[in-house]
Amino acid sequence: MISSLRGMNDILSEDYERFTYFISTATMVAQRYGFHFIQTPLLEETALFKRSVGESSDIVGKEMYQFIDKGENDVCLRPEGTAGVVRAFIQKKLDRAGGIHRFFYHGAMFRYERPQKGRLRQFHQFGVESFGVDSVYEDAAMIMMVSDILKELGIGYRLQINSLGDNSCMPSYREKLVKFVQECKDGICEDCIRRVETNPIRVLDCKNGACQELYVGAPKLIHNLCSGCNDDFATLKKILENNAILYEVNTNLVRGLDYYSKTAFEFVSDNIGSQSAIAGGGRYDRLVEFLDGRPTPAVGFAMGIERLMELIVMPEIKRDGYYIGAMDDKAVDIAVKIAQKKRKTDKAVVDYKAKNLKNHLKAADKINAKFCCVIGEDELNNGTIWVKDLEGKTEAILKIEEF
Ligand code: HAM
Repeated sequence: MISSLRGMNDILSEDYERFTYFISTATMVAQRYGFHFIQTPLLEETALFKRSVGESSDIVGKEMYQFIDKGENDVCLRPEGTAGVVRAFIQKKLDRAGGIHRFFYHGAMFRYERPQKGRLRQFHQFGVESFGVDSVYEDAAMIMMVSDILKELGIGYRLQINSLGDNSCMPSYREKLVKFVQECKDGICEDCIRRVETNPIRVLDCKNGACQELYVGAPKLIHNLCSGCNDDFATLKKILENNAILYEVNTNLVRGLDYYSKTAFEFVSDNIGSQSAIAGGGRYDRLVEFLDGRPTPAVGFAMGIERLMELIVMPEIKRDGYYIGAMDDKAVDIAVKIAQKKRKTDKAVVDYKAKNLKNHLKAADKINAKFCCVIGEDELNNGTIWVKDLEGKTEAILKIEEF
């Protein structure tokens, strides 16, 4: 028997209900904030992610599904959605058009990680990207949007925020941090030794306990921000407070992708085990330029759908539509004809096998139909149909034309 690949799941039945409920809820909220749907390909040039997510990140360095295609192109399955949306934004010359462009998307992402609960190799994200707004109010809007989506779904969360500074304060902070880390170099892990060379601030979220102990006294970025970044961070906190969004400042929150500057945030849940990040995002004002577009401020987030699925409080599923069955093979034709008419406005499912009433009632209940409709021998002779309302528990025999 051939099974699905490790870390790649099928989504069906009850999971599918949750999946589509999540997408429709998140879409509704994103549209309320003025965002429009965008779809980009699953396969892109590898260079796109190397230049945006960053070669020093685990995602690009270790986790890409990368291969050479038949035309000798170096391609990979997208590990995240932002880079593709930025590429599309530039390719469609929207950076040159100016103005504000707001997009939302959802779809599969691929990371060759070690699979465990909440960590898959093919997983799904719902994300949004906003281009052309440099106001920190837009950063706050991203956070409020995630909060709204989670509230609609009945999901509790903790929000962590940080500022990663910009070109005027990050370089001098980086120097200070490197100096600090080099002084305790003997005790740090292999990964951190590499990070000091490639992307020093990533040492701050190292998962190694010994490293974390050594970094307790490390300089904090939020104490080294320039006045512009400092003001924006203060404004962000004020907006969140004014809108009753609780947050914690986590000075070690640096995110796993290299393109961020200024605001960075993560939503975590305490109810899903160790893979607790349910959404993450931030500002990335330099990325459009990095990818050869005109400098354009941008901010966005993505949510991990599989991690959220187990937390969603589903609304009560209402009975819906018609189940139509026959007790005699000769009546199947009529059942199909009736279903075709009903399908113009409603859901109608036909059972093509003749069976007794009890079994039809069972089958109608199984698919959650509101009405169980059966044509028996008498009905066939009289041009009628037996209809039971499975919610109200009433039943009637109706003329087929009336029905
Ligand atoms: P990210 O933090 O890498 O950000 O991913 C966002 C979310 O995707 C995570 O919070 C998590 O819920 C989910 N996720 C990540 N990896 C896995 C996995 N292996 N299995 C299951 N779920 C996973 C980004 O991808 C950025 N593009 C977000 C962004 C958009 N920033 C700005 N705009």
